[in-house]
Amino acid sequence: MDELLKIKEEALLKIHDCSSLKELNDLRVFYLGKKGPMQSAMKSMKDMSKEQRASFGQVSNKVKQEITQAIEEKRKVLEEAEMLKKIQNEKIDISLPGSQLPLGTIHPLTMIREELEDLFIGMGYSIAEGPEVESDHFNFELMNLPKDHPARDMQDTFYIDENTLLRTHTSPVQAHVMLAANGRGPIKVICPGKTYRRDDDDATHSHQFSQCEGLVIDKNITMADLKGTLELFAKKMFGEKREIRLRPSYFPFTEPSVEVDISCYNCNGKGCSMCKNTGWIEILGAGMVNPKVLEMCGFDSQVYQGFAFGIGLERVAMLKYGIDNIRDFYSGDLRFLNQFVRKD
Ligand code: PHE
Repeated sequence: MDELLKIKEEALLKIHDCSSLKELNDLRVFYLGKKGPMQSAMKSMKDMSKEQRASFGQVSNKVKQEITQAIEEKRKVLEEAEMLKKIQNEKIDISLPGSQLPLGTIHPLTMIREELEDLFIGMGYSIAEGPEVESDHFNFELMNLPKDHPARDMQDTFYIDENTLLRTHTSPVQAHVMLAANGRGPIKVICPGKTYRRDDDDATHSHQFSQCEGLVIDKNITMADLKGTLELFAKKMFGEKREIRLRPSYFPFTEPSVEVDISCYNCNGKGCSMCKNTGWIEILGAGMVNPKVLEMCGFDSQVYQGFAFGIGLERVAMLKYGIDNIRDFYSGDLRFLNQFVRKD
């Protein structure tokens, strides 16, 4: 009997301490199996009296039951722990950061274009677009550049056929907008877009470039309106201290015509290498819309006047960001492009 109780105590202790289902199964086989200590204790039954045998049998059954029950209870605990461990291991951490995709940047020319668009939209302008493949009529004739005009020499381009070409400036969009207005003002547009010329590419020339045309038509428009507008443009693009200066120039589609300079933002007008010691940097061409252009595009030049200007986007970007090679805009080199990260 003592032997049985000792076996029981030892078994219950081992079951209590056991930490895996495998270990528990080994204990079950050992204590309840045919070769276990219980079986060997039973062997002594043959020397017992009938009564002793009966009570020994009872106790040994009870011990077996208790061990079985302890094993079952422990199995449940272990199974539960095992399940919890499994769940824990299979848990997906959805808070893990996603993989980083490389982000593109805005092209510097797009940045300048959008900056100009914002500036002029703020002044009540709308944005107009026109075709890049243009007719001779719109690109030249309606801009007062007839076929034999010497100013055409400076704007040689790529011809699709005799009368179809890649536009040399954004000025033909003026003609499209004016004709669509049927002789009725006011008109206040800017026309940004790509332009082309037959040029030998070098650090400052490119056969493809971009311009942003501006056109205002109304009654009582004077050169003072043009000057005020361009002054604001200069200050917004190059800093509040900028001044502008107008120099007489020539364009067939404007009369009078001016070349516009801004005071050098590098030396504040004192003279440096950037402004070639003049204190001024040439920035764009402009003028009062030639009455001939107004008439050809359906406007009564006795009633309406207008001004126009043409801004080279590459030139503005090169000045503003200190870029010294125009080809950088078109080479698609990420080392160049990644330097332009817009802060807004
Ligand atoms: N179209 C001119 C050029 O490409 C620029 C310009 C536009 C000049 C409007 C005056 C007025 O050179």
